[in-house]
Amino acid sequence: MSEYQGQHAGERGGETTDAPVFTPRKNGMYQHVSEELAAWMRTGWADTDRRNLDPVEQAAHTAKRRAALSARFPGERLVIPAGQLTTRSNDTEYPFRAACDYVYLSGDQSDGGCLVFEPHVGGGGHDVTIYLYPRSNRENGEFWLAGHGELWSGRRNSLQEASDLLGIATHDVRELTSVLRDAPAAPTRILRGHDDSLERLLAELRGGTPDAEEAAAERDAELGTALHDQRLVKDDWEITQLQQAVDSTVRGFHDVVSALPHAQATSERYVEGTFFLRARVEGNDVGYGTIAASGPNATTLHWQRNNGPVRAGDLLLLDAGVETDTLYTADVTRTVPVSGTFTDVQRRVYDLVYEAQEAGIAAVAPGKPFTTYHEAAQRVLAEGLIAWGLLEGPVERVLELGLQRRYTLHGTGHMLGLDVHDCATARTDVHLYGTLEPGMVLTVEPGLYFQPDDLTVGEELRGIGVRIEDDVLVTAGGNRVLSADLPRRSSDVEVWLAERLPAT
Ligand code: GLY
Ligand code: MN
Ligand code: MN
Repeated sequence: MSEYQGQHAGERGGETTDAPVFTPRKNGMYQHVSEELAAWMRTGWADTDRRNLDPVEQAAHTAKRRAALSARFPGERLVIPAGQLTTRSNDTEYPFRAACDYVYLSGDQSDGGCLVFEPHVGGGGHDVTIYLYPRSNRENGEFWLAGHGELWSGRRNSLQEASDLLGIATHDVRELTSVLRDAPAAPTRILRGHDDSLERLLAELRGGTPDAEEAAAERDAELGTALHDQRLVKDDWEITQLQQAVDSTVRGFHDVVSALPHAQATSERYVEGTFFLRARVEGNDVGYGTIAASGPNATTLHWQRNNGPVRAGDLLLLDAGVETDTLYTADVTRTVPVSGTFTDVQRRVYDLVYEAQEAGIAAVAPGKPFTTYHEAAQRVLAEGLIAWGLLEGPVERVLELGLQRRYTLHGTGHMLGLDVHDCATARTDVHLYGTLEPGMVLTVEPGLYFQPDDLTVGEELRGIGVRIEDDVLVTAGGNRVLSADLPRRSSDVEVWLAERLPAT
């Protein structure tokens, strides 16, 4: 055979057949492979198959999390995929980020991985196996010719190494389809939204009617809900990760303030890029798209084009978070005067948001309803807006009708963790309408936004957007602001800028 040809299924392969079973990269250079080169590439490699690896730090925690999930679903098979690479264009892919629940339960981040909880027959408990790609096969050329061979993508852990690291039994993921097909009958749930092919396979195995499929969708959603319920309270290790994310984020904000002159010479992109450098050097990535919004762009809540000018005299709203290598993210916002000093009207708006945030933070404590801190912050904002003549009181009427929301726009915060908007599908009675518990981490982020074309406010307010956002841990005695190292009060912000802005 003068050319390697084959099936996609073998691309990540480890089969030991002599026949090549995958398609080589399409980008030209390696399309034609002589027998001589193929034979040569099979040989002459050192044996690098076995490293002795200690378990990852979180292994003891992930074991407890799996045990809790197992207890919640006795007698049922649970399938929790990591997700697959997504094509961006042609043969390039988006950076992969594993599904949060998979990471939470395993500590692993491999694309294509999958956790399976296999129920013990006739009793409680599960055997948990993590299905992963093994090391590349050097015999069939997959190692150096396939797009995902280790020569292209880097060394993978062997299945034994992965098992040592994660403290979980491992198995070759290329056999997962047949394992599931041959598995004994058991009610099976899959965490949806991460692996279409596995979802299709399970639907096929159910062979059900549309009604049965609807019931299956509900049962699968219950699995997602159970995981988000479980993730609401962070364990000690998760809190260290969140603090690390916040600490890196604080350094990223310092970087941005020091770089403001460069941003003025270029655009908001300089702000985004400066923060991103910190995120990539100290963490995995940013935990969500950075909002670098200067001047009136700050009134667009999810401004992520970040292509506007940064002008002296304007405010810069930066909402950004570093995601750690373990995938926990911070979510912090500061609104700073580009020149270093607030104008009177900017300070007036800023100080009202600050007072609202103070009220919100003070209302974060165990046993309090989740809604309390939202209400506390919204009340301060509504009272301020009434005092400025923008809303007609009394405040109870404003709050009841939600009239302040024309200018406050969004809620006062959300849970934080592996996801920036963490635990979004948790049961409402333990989350949105639940009470705070020690170990929960949430944001407190009131804001005021006066759109540039809002004729209900004076011209001097139009185009001003202010948000202050901090990450807060609920403790036994109240709370701890994880991002307290970053100045918040307007006078402290000015001192911060005076210290960091290069002298002009
Ligand atoms: N960065 C998104 C948020 O603050 O919720
Ligand atoms: Mn934010
Ligand atoms: Mn937020």
